[in-house]
Parts: sequence; C-alpha cells; structure tokens
Amino acid sequence: MYSKTVIDHFTNPRNMGEMKDADAIGKVGNPTCGDLIWIYIKVKDDVITDVSFKTFGCAAAIATSSMITEITKGKTLKEAYQITRTDVAENLEGLPPIKMHCSNLSADGLHKAIQEYLRKTGRTVEDLK
Ligand code: FES
Repeated sequence: MYSKTVIDHFTNPRNMGEMKDADAIGKVGNPTCGDLIWIYIKVKDDVITDVSFKTFGCAAAIATSSMITEITKGKTLKEAYQITRTDVAENLEGLPPIKMHCSNLSADGLHKAIQEYLRKTGRTVEDLK
C-alpha cells in the first residue's frame, strides 16, 4: 500500500499547474501505462527558483511529481540534475514495487527540463560537471 507521505502528496499536491513563463519544460510519457508528466522550471543564476508540474497519471505519478518539485526548488542545476528516481521514492517513504516506474517518470521529466534549459543557454549536462 501507499505510505502516508504518498497519500498526502496525492491528495494535496504541491506546486501543481502549468507555468506560463517557464524557462524550460521537460515532458515525458510512459507508453505502457499512458501517463504523461510535464515539469516546468524557472532558473536564475543556475538556481531553480521555481518549479511546477502537470501530470495525467496515477496516484503515484502525481505524488512523485509533487515531491520532486519540493526537493528541487532552490537547488542549483547541478544539484537538481543529481536527483534520482530513488531519491524521489525515498522522500515519499517508499513506493510499491509495481509503482517504481512512476518515480522514474518524474525524475526523467526534471532531467529533461534541465537539459532543455542547458540547450537554450548553449550548454550540455557535461558543463555541469
Ligand atoms: Fe504509469 Fe504510474 S502507472 S506513471
């Protein structure tokens, strides 16, 4: 079953909604379950100052999207790029094994948004090292 934290983030998602003035957007989908996640980021001096999400998906996909926005805000691009699928699941006090792919989706969405931001500013993830 889901942890209390998963249920909390599913029933009361943080930072939900499209960001009209986002600096970059990461969109990912899972072709098997059909779920879709958009992660929006706002960046200043290579720090993620704001982050939000839009998710069409299961309870775990919504909870992981919400959690990733919480742990990403205020981090540098480099720190945020190091957030893994496991970090998201651990912050949610675990996910059922069958739902682990849902945390993959949100972490991949964040990484894609960061890649997109770097691309727009003429850089790649190699430049974060
Ligand atoms: Fe696919 Fe959760 S069932 S993201």
